[in-house]
Amino acid sequence: MRAIHIEDLTVAYEENPVLWDIDLDIYKGNITAIVGPNGAGKSTLLKAILDFVKPLSGRISIFDSSLKKNLDKIAYVPQRSNVNWDFPIKVFDVVLMGRYKEIGWFKKPSKIDKDIAFNALKEMGLEKYIDRQINELSGGQKQRVFIARALCQNAELLIMDEPLAGVDQYSEKIIMNKMKELQKQGKTIVCVHHDLNTLKDYFDRVVLINRYLVAHDTTENILNSNHLTKAYQEVGFDETAA
Ligand SMILES: Nc1ncnc2c1ncn2[C@@H]1O[C@H](COP(=O)(O)OP(=O)(O)OP(=O)(O)O)[C@@H](O)[C@H]1O
Ligand SMILES: [Mg+2]
Repeated sequence: MRAIHIEDLTVAYEENPVLWDIDLDIYKGNITAIVGPNGAGKSTLLKAILDFVKPLSGRISIFDSSLKKNLDKIAYVPQRSNVNWDFPIKVFDVVLMGRYKEIGWFKKPSKIDKDIAFNALKEMGLEKYIDRQINELSGGQKQRVFIARALCQNAELLIMDEPLAGVDQYSEKIIMNKMKELQKQGKTIVCVHHDLNTLKDYFDRVVLINRYLVAHDTTENILNSNHLTKAYQEVGFDETAA
């Protein structure tokens, strides 16, 4: 069963194509890594799936239906560097936002919603920062707040852009153990990931991209192939010519 189906996807920023002719199925119930060098188009791929960028061409379906019909089933953790953290808001309220899809924006969160938010914070080891302003946390702590928020959503599909970037090894283990627990509940997880050394510990499948799709296979097959070298050496097309 596929969670995400992508056909013939081409994305450009101001007419410069950054993703070229991507055909890809992400399987349900798997933990899939999106891997490739800086500027390969990994974040752009996630944004296209979520309809944050408009593709030049292509079709994308989620759980064999439209994105719109599945919005409440998806949690997204953006890449850390792209988030403006100056907004004055308490850690607990950031996490509680994860509940609003279920409770509705104009209703008050119930005790149950607050408990769910608190548990997610606790799972990320952040309960003592509950009343802090978000901008008073370290980079890795902020990242864990965003992950806690995603955990609260009870999503079927978690799409995370480098969730482990800048978190310490201890937190990394907590986060990935949590992902494995979610997988056992049948959830689907997609993460942009940079550390090739931990691919086999955490991921079932790997999607290698560098402007175009280099390979998509089981982690074992990817690690036993020359695709990784290929993904990091070749560029899909000449950027200067675009
Ligand atoms: N909003 C934008 N406007 C114009 N160009 C963009 C925009 N966002 C990204 N790009 C360009 O598109 C290309 C792909 O960017 P993207 O952020 O998808 O890469 P990435 O694989 O996520 O890289 P990283 O590993 O550094 O996060 C890069 O060349 C980048 O400079
Ligand atoms: Mg990125």
